[in-house]
Amino acid sequence: MADFDVKPSVIDRVRDRPRRLQRLAVLIVILGMGLALLYPLLRDRHGAPIEVRDVPRLPPENLAVIPLAASPTDDPRRVALGRRLFFDARLSPLGRSCGNCHVPASYGTLRAARSPGLGDQLDEFNVPTVLNAALSPYLGWKGKITSLADQLHRVINNPRHMGSNWAWVIETLSADSDYRSRFSALYADGITRSSITDAILAFERSLVTPGAPFDRYLRGEFGALTSEQIAGYELFKDYGCIACHQGRNLGGNLIIRFGILEDPFKDGFFDAATPKSKRFLKLRVPSLRNVAKTGPYLHDGSVETLEEVVRLMARYQLGREMPEEDVRRIVAFLHSLTAPLPENFR
Ligand code: HEC
Ligand code: HEC
Repeated sequence: MADFDVKPSVIDRVRDRPRRLQRLAVLIVILGMGLALLYPLLRDRHGAPIEVRDVPRLPPENLAVIPLAASPTDDPRRVALGRRLFFDARLSPLGRSCGNCHVPASYGTLRAARSPGLGDQLDEFNVPTVLNAALSPYLGWKGKITSLADQLHRVINNPRHMGSNWAWVIETLSADSDYRSRFSALYADGITRSSITDAILAFERSLVTPGAPFDRYLRGEFGALTSEQIAGYELFKDYGCIACHQGRNLGGNLIIRFGILEDPFKDGFFDAATPKSKRFLKLRVPSLRNVAKTGPYLHDGSVETLEEVVRLMARYQLGREMPEEDVRRIVAFLHSLTAPLPENFR
């Protein structure tokens, strides 16, 4: 009852207000509507320059997925020499060649969860492929290495990999008359760290794999992919996989935390003993080229199948549980990234 008594008196008071106030209210409403209408325009004019300023930081090939071109043509004699060095176990006192871990039949990886380390021990990492590695600005699972030459220097000296050093390598090669004549034919200084590096890098640069069905599709040969693979590519874009796995290598050019939206360790499929401080690994986004051939997956080789990796990616990197049908289509798409092996890597 009390409420009822108050209302008429409020209305009376409003009615009695001077017309000035009414006009002010109308003005405010009109201004508000005007601003609301203009907002998108103002925002766009404000937003456009930011985007334009951001773009030039990435070379065009990194902006989307583009087909892979053939490798630059290094002197074939240097490539051949580099190939010989790559498969020569005498470069290492442990009797290991690069090709023992980067096995051609396994598309440049090792079919093992983790790389061999010192003696019977295992390294902490899975062996990444050397195929298309020359196209990645960041190397190694952590992406901390930024040139093939630096990577080579480290792997030669790493006790868990080649367990060697330059003096050993140069001495061994110099004792071989065939190497002596090949090097002196190509390099004025003969066998040196720099000529050895040059030859191995020429070989590594030759290890690109154009000619995957997906590249043919990108060039307009639409029949190169099945309809399931095309659906998978669309999902790959829609889910946002492409935000990380992008550029001509579908990866290799970003360093990202693994476990953006969920903690992959808490589910226990990684080594539970991993200390908390090491759990949120910042990793290079791996290239997905030839990924159907390079399992087991992830930095520690803990996952056997592509289906499982795709489910995990959706959960930990995108915060989604992916329906099995979508998993199947994306995996079909990933298979379209398999190219024939380069002729000099068989
Ligand atoms: C004992 C196994 C082993 C041997 C031998 C070995 N590697 Fe590796 N290679 C690895 C592992 C493991 C990694 C990843 C290391 C990391 O992420 O820190 C790697 C990484 C690389 C990469 C970077 C690939 C990428 O995309 O990140 C290149 C290139 C490479 N190795 C070339 C070579 C060359 C050249 C040799 C011979 C001089 C060689 N490797 C010998 C195990 C090996
Ligand atoms: C936020 C960035 C990000 C997104 C989004 C993302 N990934 Fe990844 N992806 C990574 C990182 C980082 C790794 C390496 C993780 C590791 O080794 O532990 C990886 C690894 C992979 C691997 C394993 C590669 C190998 O050689 O071991 C596959 C396959 C893969 N991602 C596919 C996908 C698919 C499919 C999607 C979309 C559903 C996706 N990724 C979304 C960052 C991402």
